[in-house]
Amino acid sequence: MERPEVIVNVASSLDGAIASSEGALILSTTEDWVRVHELRNSVDAILVGVNTILKDDPLLSVRQIKPREPAPLRTILDTSCRIPLTAKVLQDQERLPSIIVTSKESSASKQDEIRKLGAKVVSVEFEKNKRYLNLADVLKILKTQFGINKLLVEGGSTVITQFLTNRLVDIMHIFYAPVFVGGKNAKLLFEQEAIHNIGDAINCEIQTVNKLHEGYLVTLKLKKDE
Ligand SMILES: NC(=O)c1ccc[n+]([C@@H]2O[C@H](COP(=O)([O-])OP(=O)(O)OC[C@H]3O[C@@H](n4cnc5c(N)ncnc54)[C@H](OP(=O)(O)O)[C@@H]3O)[C@@H](O)[C@H]2O)c1
Repeated sequence: MERPEVIVNVASSLDGAIASSEGALILSTTEDWVRVHELRNSVDAILVGVNTILKDDPLLSVRQIKPREPAPLRTILDTSCRIPLTAKVLQDQERLPSIIVTSKESSASKQDEIRKLGAKVVSVEFEKNKRYLNLADVLKILKTQFGINKLLVEGGSTVITQFLTNRLVDIMHIFYAPVFVGGKNAKLLFEQEAIHNIGDAINCEIQTVNKLHEGYLVTLKLKKDE
């Protein structure tokens, strides 16, 4: 394959919210967190969008279980290099390496400051009318320059939506917490404009549905276009 295998993992409310407009919602249970850390330990890289860093400042490391070495490469999609130099993912680079994927137009001095912390910075072409970094280019770089064969995409809404609409997802795990939180202004699992014809939907095959403590874990295989 020209690109890494792409696995999406996300925790959602029953009504499809993955965060509030303010930031994280605690939707995963302790059991689910152990599963997520096992999943992180099984991949070569973990990817999130810069808004997840700005809102939650996650470490994106393997905890709860014995981490394998080398640690998965923490990958941040950051068009304009908005990541703060104090972000947790930019610390401890010897042990927990990170790569910031940005556009060629982003500040060269900010890119240098990130490199000084030991993180890698790569820039990809960015077509302004397309709004986001080209994911096919990002995946190709991850595979060819960094040897990433298995990528875990953890969010947030915008990143998952872009991976789904570009048909770049192979497997998706959704942990449904048994709660309704309200969708108005929430960050949704899939933020695409609503379709009017079911023929235009993104089709999945359900692989497994398992009760996990108080919630449900649904594993989906994304169907490829015919
Ligand atoms: N429940 C869960 O499992 C879970 C997991 C992770 C995150 N979250 C939540 O998700 C929320 C953040 O989600 P979000 O939708 O605001 O932001 P996001 O998906 O974390 O980040 C989106 C940003 O990434 C940059 N980006 C660059 N190229 C991109 C591309 N090709 N596709 C998508 N994004 C690209 C863009 O930055 P620019 O705007 O600068 O271009 C874009 O605005 C947080 O509140 C967090 O708590 C929930």
